[in-house]
Amino acid sequence: MGINVEIAQDWHAALAALSWQYDLGVEDVVLDAAVNRYDLPEATRTAKLEAPVPGPGPGAGIVPVPKGRSPSPAIAPQPVVAAPAVDVVAVAQAAAGRAGTLDALREALATFEHCDLKRGARNLVFADGNPKARVLILGEAPGRDEDMEGLPFVGSAGQLLDQMFAAIGMSRRSPDAQAALYITNVLPWRPPGNRDPEPEEIAMMRPFVERHIALVDPQVIVAMGNAPLFALTGSKGILRARGSWGQAFGRPLLPMTHPAYLLRNPIAKREAWADLLALQVRLRG
Ligand code: URA
Repeated sequence: MGINVEIAQDWHAALAALSWQYDLGVEDVVLDAAVNRYDLPEATRTAKLEAPVPGPGPGAGIVPVPKGRSPSPAIAPQPVVAAPAVDVVAVAQAAAGRAGTLDALREALATFEHCDLKRGARNLVFADGNPKARVLILGEAPGRDEDMEGLPFVGSAGQLLDQMFAAIGMSRRSPDAQAALYITNVLPWRPPGNRDPEPEEIAMMRPFVERHIALVDPQVIVAMGNAPLFALTGSKGILRARGSWGQAFGRPLLPMTHPAYLLRNPIAKREAWADLLALQVRLRG
């Protein structure tokens, strides 16, 4: 039986193209045709927040045609005018500061147009759990499962997180504030390919995190991993910081290793268990 060389070549070319896309962070097929979300009209992204920019608008640059003469196709050179730089952290501070409730904060995030991650995400991942909880868990950023469901910590790391806290009698589903958890992330949109959050992204989202914590008003914050530790304290190194109580926004802070790290390094579960017991003692005291 002969091999159809053309089909075999197509197959290899398609596989190479697919593998290249996967390396770039494309993991799911959503539509039949590609949509470049970065091609959204600039106006819809920035119009509300930037000062009007003099320069080319609709029809700008077209040479006026005297009455009675047919229009010439000549186009005048377009002046290049840079848009004024926007202080995105200040914009985030103002937007977060105006939010007087959790619903308003969710809306403020949903309409915040300065974080590029939003354009690549399927869903805004705001929070889960009981807003009356004494313990607020701050994670890093949504992964694939969280992006699909619009809820934090629902993938394999989230399942481990639920089991860990169940071991000390706490749950995001508990209606009892004493035993309840409230869970949110530093970034509300999934970074492509689950890459680490960039410092600029953390700085931009930090005002929302601060407001989120103020509105929930937890007794204790748990920072799950490096990005939340950095967002809350400005320092890195979760493996050194874990297990020692610190402070964030005037509240007790317990840094812990991320459950995804524990899945990769089961030996570290022993220390995580010690951290959970320290949390339990603190809450009892
Ligand atoms: N890891 C996180 O830090 N947050 C999530 O929501 C999921 C995984």
